[in-house]
Amino acid sequence: MAADAKHVIDFDHHGPMLRDHNTEQLKELMYNDAGCPMGWSTAHNGHWAIWGYDALYDAVQDAETFSSTHLPPECPKGVPGALYPDPLIPIDIDGQEQQDYRKVVLNWFNPGHARSLEPRIQQICDDLIDDFIESGEADLAYQLFTALPAIVTLEMLGWESHRWREWVGWVHSFIHDATHDPELAMQNTMLMYGSINNEIARRRDELGDDLFSDMMRTPVAGKVLDDDELRNFATLVLLGGMDTTSGVTGNSVLLIDQDDELRRQIIDNIDQMPKIIEEFLRYAGPGGGLYRRVTKDVEFHGEQMHEGEKVLMMFWAANRDPKAFPDPEKIDIFRTQNRHMAFGLGPHRCLGSHHARRMFATLMTGIFTRIPDFEVDWDGVERFEDCGSVYAVRHLPVTFTPGPRLTPA
Ligand code: HEM
Repeated sequence: MAADAKHVIDFDHHGPMLRDHNTEQLKELMYNDAGCPMGWSTAHNGHWAIWGYDALYDAVQDAETFSSTHLPPECPKGVPGALYPDPLIPIDIDGQEQQDYRKVVLNWFNPGHARSLEPRIQQICDDLIDDFIESGEADLAYQLFTALPAIVTLEMLGWESHRWREWVGWVHSFIHDATHDPELAMQNTMLMYGSINNEIARRRDELGDDLFSDMMRTPVAGKVLDDDELRNFATLVLLGGMDTTSGVTGNSVLLIDQDDELRRQIIDNIDQMPKIIEEFLRYAGPGGGLYRRVTKDVEFHGEQMHEGEKVLMMFWAANRDPKAFPDPEKIDIFRTQNRHMAFGLGPHRCLGSHHARRMFATLMTGIFTRIPDFEVDWDGVERFEDCGSVYAVRHLPVTFTPGPRLTPA
């Protein structure tokens, strides 16, 4: 396949190079001598990767040519193929069916609902910072960025949020272990599915006023979702909800720690946080490894693509395309034109974007008002071993001047 590709690269998005030299790797793709917006990677049995803004923009809007549906075993989903061949709902589905599934949860994933959650998001953020602010040290990744989105997601689903550490452990393993330790990822995935099945069973007799009850009660094409559909839908809400917002916050904090001027700008413009986070979503977004399947032979942006080939949609790379963003490597919180694709585009555009923005803005405001002089202990920073799907930090230790709690212990 793709023996006729014009631009061939040796690029492994699951490998250590992208994890440890992210900017250099993305630049190498973008500023290639041939000026190509895409290439054929020889990694993982071969696949296309699209990083140019215009090419990616065209591809994600053309779901007929670039399908999200995968056909196991010939083309198992993911690059490389996922362990578990079931489609995640709605991300691995096309057309009307996908739109019908989205409608099931739209009451929960809209700007108004995200706005209504704001006081609760603020409260969780305040409490989490209270837990460590007097000590002058914290692992921000685990104690704050990971905890907050996980608690919010579980509360929306109507599941016990005090168990967030367990759920997060399974989700992290599903996303970050699948390529380098598939057995461990599979064990954790099975534990997660067991717990989702328990939630289904708990609600069979009595539904509540929560997202998961709505998923159980709302018919799609005249029929309520069966247990497999519920599990595959809930799994995606967990994956989307728990790893991504945490990833972009951690990536941003690490960048700001290395740039005193940027830190000063953020502190001085703290009331502009909704705009500031857009620049970090553009530059420090978490990924990553989303893919499509080519449905027919097609010539696309100078390359001949063939039916059945896989394509990696590199939203985070496109967000650094100089054709779309002047001086793209500069983090400019005053940037005026910022049509980034951190949340994707087209029929699969992120359902959780409104919630993600609220959580990200609240976390950043909390950090830069309550512990603005934090210093990262770089020896203790740990990224997930595989950052190919979501580029995120597992541990991010900091020290700072201790401050007062907002609520008494
Ligand atoms: C900064 C945080 C986030 C980023 C950068 C992000 C990014 C993305 C991207 C790029 C897609 C498009 C996938 C594709 O085209 O194949 C997507 C889809 C999705 N996201 Fe997010 N996401 C974030 C937060 C969230 C949150 C908080 C949730 C839920 C609580 C969520 C749930 C989803 C779902 C369910 C989809 C699938 C939509 C569909 O296929 O129709 N995401 N996200």
